[in-house]
Amino acid sequence: MRTLKDLFLDELADRYDSEKRLVIAMPKMIKAATCLHLRSLIETHLMETERQVTKLEKVFKLFGEKPSVNKCDATIGILAEGTEVATDNKGSVVINAALVSVAQKIEHYEIASYGCLREWSTLLGNKPAAALLKEILNEEKAANQALITLARAHCNNQALNAGDDDDSCVTDKKVKPVKRAA
Ligand SMILES: [Fe+2]
Repeated sequence: MRTLKDLFLDELADRYDSEKRLVIAMPKMIKAATCLHLRSLIETHLMETERQVTKLEKVFKLFGEKPSVNKCDATIGILAEGTEVATDNKGSVVINAALVSVAQKIEHYEIASYGCLREWSTLLGNKPAAALLKEILNEEKAANQALITLARAHCNNQALNAGDDDDSCVTDKKVKPVKRAA
């Protein structure tokens, strides 16, 4: 009979696969973005995502398990959408707003997944694992909020004004970078 622990470990393996895929995909998103602020935000989250892979390995260990991967079809699907969006909007400043929307879809999926994992970990009585999962959950929430702030401050207006003379954020040095919540 399947138990909550089986469900937890399946979802954990799903997250492990997803984060590893994101570590590979995020440099492509950085390359596709033309907004310096967006590039820097994704770079920061890439480093965070690399640390999340290690945190997930610790969670497996806290449950007495070796890290394992479950193919995450949702991540594969959203990343495929990201590739399509990058191709469709190549050469246009609209690409930054488009990439923010893809990144936000990933974050929302991650927030839902880590929220469940943290709850289940607590129910299974593994407080150290629940604390690590809460850390990751908070990082994903902060990344999502930083994307919203950046879209409002730059990318959406850039997209709205596409075609105007001032269409490049890369050369815009006067705008302060968006700070991530701690
Ligand atoms: Fe994330």
